[in-house]
Amino acid sequence: METNWKRKHILSLRDFTPAEYNTILQTAISFREVLSTRTKKVPTLQGRVVANLFFEPSTRTRSSFELAAKRLSADILNFSPGTSSLTKGETILDTAKTYLAMGADLMVIRHKNAGVPQAIAAEMDRLKVKVNVLNAGDGQHQHPSQALLDLFTICSVLDLDKPRIELLKGKKIAIVGDILHSRVARSNIDCLLSLDTQVHLAAPPTLLPNFFSKKNKNNNLFLHWKIEPALENADFVMTLRLQKERMTEHLLPSLREYHQNFGITRSRLQLCHPHVKILHPGPVNRGVEISSDLMDDPNFSLISQQVTSGVAVRMALLYLIGLTHDDK
Ligand code: NCD
Repeated sequence: METNWKRKHILSLRDFTPAEYNTILQTAISFREVLSTRTKKVPTLQGRVVANLFFEPSTRTRSSFELAAKRLSADILNFSPGTSSLTKGETILDTAKTYLAMGADLMVIRHKNAGVPQAIAAEMDRLKVKVNVLNAGDGQHQHPSQALLDLFTICSVLDLDKPRIELLKGKKIAIVGDILHSRVARSNIDCLLSLDTQVHLAAPPTLLPNFFSKKNKNNNLFLHWKIEPALENADFVMTLRLQKERMTEHLLPSLREYHQNFGITRSRLQLCHPHVKILHPGPVNRGVEISSDLMDDPNFSLISQQVTSGVAVRMALLYLIGLTHDDK
């Protein structure tokens, strides 16, 4: 595969270029093909070590990165905070350096605090070692691989064989739910706003503060404190989990009332474009963000495609950043 990929770490989508998005989509298409073959594996990262440093619980992101690394023939080290030396007082940077000493080439990092993957990447650069860092979700800040797999999923709906960013021009995308606490929303907003789409955010005012309008540099971001205007004629609706673990105050009267006012239901879908599709990064609070029957309806729900796309997209990311050290 020919690419002119230069980015060593993937920490945030804030400064990604359209060309980079297309390179990721094209690379993910090739890996999607690999995953459809009988062996499902390529020797691309043979001899390299991927360290999965998940300081915060995760099911799908962690498994998805693990499978992606295995499909690329890398050796993988998994780290769980509960059983690690962190409980003995080791610092995060020292944990990362321990994995470095074991020969880790790529570090995939999730942490409950914003900025941890950036700090580890800065330390690796300061040490002048050839280690790539991939942010797998930091606090309420960024979750680039989730937004990129969402992008691949959406573009594949628009053209299965040739998903590409040009297909998104003029599409209306609604992002509904706990935007305040969501790193997925922030990465998706950064990505979609730079790609000629119309992004409509909808949530109760406590979960959608006005400061989000600061991201509106190209006049394509709209904030709503009611769901209806966001859904009107929308091509895609992204729903987000209510992040109860991050809510420090009582931000909602009740989950039932949230569902009544902001839940995605079959009757609300009537407002959307007839071909509307729904995304959710998971884990889902069934019957809260989205009605249970809609979640399981393959005519509307892209939830399982998102999970499937995740492996091909994460293979693409590990491959591309790994390329920056091909002289190893
Ligand atoms: C998201 C996360 O962890 O940020 N989930 C995920 O990565 N699949 C969203 C969430 O937890 O609600």
